[in-house]
Amino acid sequence: MSGTFLSGMRTMARGAREQPRLFGIAIAGSVVYGAGTAASGYLVGRVTDRVIVPAVTGSGDVSTADVWLAGSTLMAVTLVTVAGILVRRVWAGAVAFTLQAGYRRRLARRYLELPLAWHHAHPAGRLLATAGSDVEATWQAMFVLPFALGVVVLIAVAGVAMAAADPVLATVGLLVIPALLLANIVYQRRMSPRVTRVQQLRGEVSATAHESFEGALVVKTLGLADEEVERFTVDANRLRDANVAAGRTRGAFEPVIEALPALGTLAVLSVGTARAAGGAVGVGDLVQIAYLLGLLAFPVRAFGWVLSELPRTVAGDTRVQAILRESATTPWGERSFDATGGPVAVSTTGLGYRHPVPATDPLDERPELPGQRASAVAPQHDPAPALADVTLDVAAGSTVAVVGSTGSGKSTLAGLLVRLVDPTSGDVVLDGVDVRSLADGEVAGAAALVPQSTFVFDDTVRGNIALGLDDASVPAGRRVGDDDIWRALRLARAEDFVSALPGGLDELVGERGSTLSGGQRQRLALARALVRRPRLLVLDDATSALDPTVERAVLDGLAESGEGTTVVVVAYRPATIALADEVVHLERGRVVDRGPAAEVAARDAGYRDLVTAYARAAKDRADGVTTNTAGMA
Ligand SMILES: Nc1ncnc2c1ncn2[C@@H]1O[C@H](COP(=O)(O)OP(=O)(O)O)[C@@H](O)[C@H]1O
Ligand SMILES: [Mg+2]
Repeated sequence: MSGTFLSGMRTMARGAREQPRLFGIAIAGSVVYGAGTAASGYLVGRVTDRVIVPAVTGSGDVSTADVWLAGSTLMAVTLVTVAGILVRRVWAGAVAFTLQAGYRRRLARRYLELPLAWHHAHPAGRLLATAGSDVEATWQAMFVLPFALGVVVLIAVAGVAMAAADPVLATVGLLVIPALLLANIVYQRRMSPRVTRVQQLRGEVSATAHESFEGALVVKTLGLADEEVERFTVDANRLRDANVAAGRTRGAFEPVIEALPALGTLAVLSVGTARAAGGAVGVGDLVQIAYLLGLLAFPVRAFGWVLSELPRTVAGDTRVQAILRESATTPWGERSFDATGGPVAVSTTGLGYRHPVPATDPLDERPELPGQRASAVAPQHDPAPALADVTLDVAAGSTVAVVGSTGSGKSTLAGLLVRLVDPTSGDVVLDGVDVRSLADGEVAGAAALVPQSTFVFDDTVRGNIALGLDDASVPAGRRVGDDDIWRALRLARAEDFVSALPGGLDELVGERGSTLSGGQRQRLALARALVRRPRLLVLDDATSALDPTVERAVLDGLAESGEGTTVVVVAYRPATIALADEVVHLERGRVVDRGPAAEVAARDAGYRDLVTAYARAAKDRADGVTTNTAGMA
């Protein structure tokens, strides 16, 4: 706890240093609130002595002016106090929200700078959670910290005022403060793991629900609805039990914390009436002490709130800092390509790649924090290389088909060729230049990768293909007009379906392209690559959802467009392979054989199996469909 307390307070101090002006205003407001509240207690005592007691007992002269003066002074102090509260709350919120916004921006920038290999090792869900809830958790205590600091002032001033009025009664009354603090600390310590557990379970329930909705099709078709309901019920019941446990703790502590100040006031009043009767203390002093005690009851809880937030502060900040401190970057070189047009020659020597081991959660290294999982992280072994010793030579303008079974390293190779990741051994050379010595933007300007899974943005067809290149701010040489877009659509064999859309290029394609078929999405992704007139085009299984005839037309079109593009295509279909000048057979990350398709087929049995198995499966499927239709007819 003390470790958490100190780290949490260090984080708060850092936040205050980063926003000194906003934090200073919040503290000033809080001090005004604390001093004003204490002053109102003092005033109530004085008004009792000078106005109320004389008026009630009829022992003195109370003019209307006195009543007005007393009332308006109290009113003025109250207004100042209220202004302090307003300033404190508004600026405390400003500090917390400004810090949140600042850290989210820093994280987002960091995410963009970090290379893809780093992202592969860090699940996107966790990165989102860090930018969202972890940042929020880090600065949650900031909302109450100025309040708690103002309460310190309040207790100090009120304590002095009480002691000046009557030291004995002040001691009796102020005994309540340590009791309240203790009760609050015990309460928050009991509560905080329970609240953390509720948060965790809430996340699990929503994850389960989310998965069920996402997999609705699978659930329905396999008739798993009952199992899913059961799975959800288990999670929901656990959340209910955790909430009930938290509620029990709250139920046990809240009344005690509510009752303590009342008990203190009772003690002050019983001791005080005896002392007042004996003349040791004036009625005004007694009223002042009882009143101040009542006023303190609520603010003292601010300490409890800050204390209860600190574990979450430390947990959130640990995750945030782990990312901000991450030093991995893509080191860009200085060079640029000599030629600005024409196909690029590609060669690799001894190319190897090991996927990074999934990163551990930084929280797993802080065992003192509540709520973290026991280390459920993958063992730290070196994974087998996804690619090893791949040496290739692709002549400028030629087409190479990469063939291999699932997991053989085809996508890894595709990513390396366009420098999505850097190799762990060997090199990739484009037009005689090592990609690592090329300046930022050079590879992206010359090469295009159409990945295995296509992504379509919630935008128009035009927006999805141009992706910003149609903006007037883009230099004329790189700017993309509608003519270029139609040309790319024609090459991708997407022209017909786009012109059939009611909005044409302006048609919105919906979230993730939900209004398009898989094949249509793939053709848009293809057009997106082609509109950039790439000098190297890498297609990672990017035509899998196309009919074989369409796929063939696309590849033929590429060859005939005379644009001069080197094409590396991950392919299964014999028809696609037939278009390639050379095939490369990959197995377990290594090149088994390479050469013209016919030669490889003649001497490489594994390749033959792969290609004929695919062809046979396709034929069986076609036959199966025919038989079924025949049967139904
Ligand atoms: N992000 C990743 N982290 C760890 N291993 C990966 C990752 N992506 C792929 N792999 C592994 O690398 C190998 C090659 O994968 P990949 O290049 O995607 O194969 P292919 O595209 O030929 O199916 C596989 O064994 C796969 O399990
Ligand atoms: Mg793949």
